[in-house]
Amino acid sequence: MNITLIPVAPAAGSGLMNGANAVVFDVLRATSTIVTALSSGYRRVYPVVDADEARRMAGERGFSLAGERGGRKISGFPLGNSPLEFCAGPAAGADSLVLTTSNGTAAIRSAAVAEKVLTGSIINARAAARAAVAEGRDIILVCAGSGGLYSLDDVLGAGFVLLEIIDAAARPPEMDDQALAALCLARYYRQDPLAGLMESSHGRKLLGLGLERDLRWCARLNLYDAAPVLYGEYIAV
Ligand code: MLT
Repeated sequence: MNITLIPVAPAAGSGLMNGANAVVFDVLRATSTIVTALSSGYRRVYPVVDADEARRMAGERGFSLAGERGGRKISGFPLGNSPLEFCAGPAAGADSLVLTTSNGTAAIRSAAVAEKVLTGSIINARAAARAAVAEGRDIILVCAGSGGLYSLDDVLGAGFVLLEIIDAAARPPEMDDQALAALCLARYYRQDPLAGLMESSHGRKLLGLGLERDLRWCARLNLYDAAPVLYGEYIAV
């Protein structure tokens, strides 16, 4: 089994993903929000790139609507992209959620050509690792990045999934240099994932928006035993 890490999703060529299992990371915060919502009673999350399309889809189908741009809730949207908004579960009859975010939802859609697409984060690292290796296919770790640039929180999440894969493997997988670097990063922050998130540039931006509780939530290693999978247009566990 070969493991390749794509540090920024827009750099992901679809050819790489054919026949592989992809795990997509937007640790701060889209993939952490998705696993939180699906572990708290939401049945489906629809990742949508465009805010107007998200609004239209939610309106036509009667779904809950959530999204952010630049870390802030989109104007007119009832919900933003904080995992804490979803951990209490949906209101009755509102368990399908349309989510649009600055980078994460596009990264998930860009991986749709893979054989299986999982969403990974620190809070579901072990479950994502188990699901990624299950069929013995090659694995592509797709980091969303931020505005086309490397984002340390995503690579750290990928590193925590790699730690779980290696801990469980009878034989160490073949890793490319980017995956090896992610593994080293996770080893560095193993005892304190929150420090990694707080030191990252996106983490510092969210701290500036008063969202420290979100960082604390997203740093809770293996909080959930769930590996959300993309099924066509929606994600479910
Ligand atoms: C993104 O998609 O870039 C993020 O999830 C941004 C955020 O909500 O912090």
